Amino acid sequence: MKITEYITPLKENIDKAREEGKTVVLVPTMGFLHYGHLAMVEDARKKDENHEEIYIVMSIFVNPLQFGPNEDFNKYPRNLERDSRLAQEAGVDMLFVPSIEEMYPNGKSLTTVNVFTVPDGLCGAFRPGHFQGVATVVSKLFNIVWPDAAYFGQKDYQQFIVIKQMVTDLNLPITLIPYPTVREPDGLAMSSRNSYLSKEQREQAPVLYRALQEGASLIDSGEKRMEVIREKIIQRISFQTDGKIEYVEIRRADDLSPVEIINGTIVIALAVHFGGTRLIDNIIVGV
Ligand code: PAF
Repeated sequence: MKITEYITPLKENIDKAREEGKTVVLVPTMGFLHYGHLAMVEDARKKDENHEEIYIVMSIFVNPLQFGPNEDFNKYPRNLERDSRLAQEAGVDMLFVPSIEEMYPNGKSLTTVNVFTVPDGLCGAFRPGHFQGVATVVSKLFNIVWPDAAYFGQKDYQQFIVIKQMVTDLNLPITLIPYPTVREPDGLAMSSRNSYLSKEQREQAPVLYRALQEGASLIDSGEKRMEVIREKIIQRISFQTDGKIEYVEIRRADDLSPVEIINGTIVIALAVHFGGTRLIDNIIVGV
């Protein structure tokens, strides 16, 4: 595995791989890698077995543009030594770890990418500017790496839909590969932010997924009223945890438009604060 901070050698290596006929796959991350990230690398590596030669680029960049002024940019966990080892073991070919100066030479980006309406509600309602920051940095990464395909974890479901919309609207020739949320054995969605949780919060956090599963089984057993399902989930989280619910919402899975009576495929998404730690999770249910 090669590792670089700089765009020029990154591009040179990618060009070489492309000349050798390899398919370039990007796995963008903010680091502090967990199996949710590594599973995407392993999945990409499997394509080699189908005789398609893959060149995997992983980026690690804690993007200041997507954090609000009172969010955890400064304390976001970072451990490049550990991340490099894990990335190499998982089969990454090129690790791109730019500095803020390399990504934003003027200290900021005067050009930003806005995807309208998709960021309304859910996380977008509570993190103003977040998806603009995500769409901008992902566009930059796409333009730097020019990948044939890019992986995005489905835990950040709204992020995936925002990027999907951006790729469609801007005719970007990139295949997006959504990757299912990877969970701890007790159901908690893997996240770098889980490392902030106290012992007691960590014990309570799996209730989020159990509440989502309860919502999904209510739908399976015939309940179609969105508000009834939403209330059940809110009740369970409120009774069984000390978490402060930011939102629980049910939306259409393809475009996140609102839904009152459930039909088609929907996503139940939530965000809950455990002390200073904000956790998100979701479940997709087809009716
Ligand atoms: O999901 C993430 O880790 C980030 O939002 C991403 C896609 C790497 C952009 O900074």
